[in-house]
Amino acid sequence: MSQSLATVAYLGAAILFILSLSGLSNPETSRRGNLFGMIGMALAVLATVFGPSVSTSGIAWIVIALVVGGGIGLYAAKVVKMTQMPELVALMHSLVGLAACIVGFASYIDPTMKYEGAEKIIHEVEIYVGILIGAVTFSGSLIAFGKLAGRIGGKPLLLPARHWLNLIALLVVIWFGREFLAAPDVNAGMLPLIVMTVIALLFGIHMVMAIGGADMPVVVSMLNSYSGWAAAATGFMLSNDLLIVTGALVGSSGAILSYIMCTAMNRNFISVIAGGFGSGGGTPAKKSDAAEPQGEVVPVSAAETSEMLRDAKSVIIVPGYGMAVAQAQHTVYEITKTLREKGVDVRFAIHPVAGRMPGHMNVLLAEAKVPYDIVMEMDEINEDFPDTDVAIVIGANDIVNPSAAEDPSSPIAGMPVLEVWKAKTSIVMKRSMASGYAGVDNPLFYKENNRMLFGDAKKMLDEVLVALKG
Ligand code: TAP
Repeated sequence: MSQSLATVAYLGAAILFILSLSGLSNPETSRRGNLFGMIGMALAVLATVFGPSVSTSGIAWIVIALVVGGGIGLYAAKVVKMTQMPELVALMHSLVGLAACIVGFASYIDPTMKYEGAEKIIHEVEIYVGILIGAVTFSGSLIAFGKLAGRIGGKPLLLPARHWLNLIALLVVIWFGREFLAAPDVNAGMLPLIVMTVIALLFGIHMVMAIGGADMPVVVSMLNSYSGWAAAATGFMLSNDLLIVTGALVGSSGAILSYIMCTAMNRNFISVIAGGFGSGGGTPAKKSDAAEPQGEVVPVSAAETSEMLRDAKSVIIVPGYGMAVAQAQHTVYEITKTLREKGVDVRFAIHPVAGRMPGHMNVLLAEAKVPYDIVMEMDEINEDFPDTDVAIVIGANDIVNPSAAEDPSSPIAGMPVLEVWKAKTSIVMKRSMASGYAGVDNPLFYKENNRMLFGDAKKMLDEVLVALKG
């Protein structure tokens, strides 16, 4: 393939990626967005493999790598459960970081890359910065994977003087950067490069270990952004324009997502970007299992729940992580349909950090074919709870915790939440009194107008549906 054809293909792929991102911003167009992304990526891979920078002798190796990598990816995508998606995404981010590191070292020792003067300095800065971002992304994403998968505890690890440690690490990295650029040859430059990589790996671990469970949504989107910048840095090292554009798209959209997550969590964006969060509101959470009971809870049966729903004029459904675990979205849709046929006004309230990944609930509801026009964002619907007869919470906990609004000492204080307790009656559907992801006790359960429907969400909703139809 000629250089100009490859450039046209890259341009086409870049446009498709932009269309993909804009498609993904709305549930109605998200399938199309996904399709654009897939076509763009196929085009990008083909243009690269058959492009002028790959020699024919190298194609066999690339095909082997494609088959092995593609096979593993296909297998992972097939076996992963929806609730494990965030872990898989974190793991994928770590691979982007690892790739940036490997490409960085490879292009440093590559004997064919001969640069002089300013070009040499620019190339070495690209390598140094690329490996730095890649190593932070790699180790940080692995720790995020461990935390999301529950293999590492959610409690923040707060080392004494951790901000000073970070500052010292930064100064050491800058110092070794100078040494690296001043090195006369590859052998002399290798030591500062390795030292910086080790520090960056430790920094990535330290940064994510210091973050409490309640802040994980911000970390997921922040690492998403880092992985984009790592890819862009790889693009600079390889002089691959498409990788630079794609990396910048992922990096900046991840940064925007981090900003949205920060707003949803009431966190300061700048301090998150600086890696300085975990202090203040990030105190280790207490587990409600061990906490003192705060009063009486009023359990209800599925039959009573269906009666309340049938008698209601307006119902707001708040789905959370438990709906994803129970895979209850299809029954939720059936109930919604039945209630709407009976003239009940049913809407959904989606919290920006409900579940375990951005848009988690929207994906599940779209899969169950819930009409988009009754699925509302938190800001659109939060004021309507006082005029609502029944707010039904399906496997959600932290996102409906009144202590965020009422208790300044709560670890989630200040986080905007869905104010379900303002409805005439709220019904919380979960299996036990256990706390949610943030490990914070929930005073909602003990409110006078709240009822608890204990059990697996799918099983209980099936019973509610039978009672509703009966
Ligand atoms: P959580 O606060 O984690 O609460 C989920 C509740 O679902 C649990 O209390 C659990 O109680 C219940 N549950 C679990 N399995 C169930 C089942 N089979 N049937 C019925 N209930 C079940 O979830 P949330 O309210 O959606 O809030 C999300 C949390 O995750 C926030 O703290 C957020 O910061 C964090 N987080 C979010 C993200 C993103 S990007 N969305 C990423 C990482 C972390 P039982 O065990 O008693 O059933």
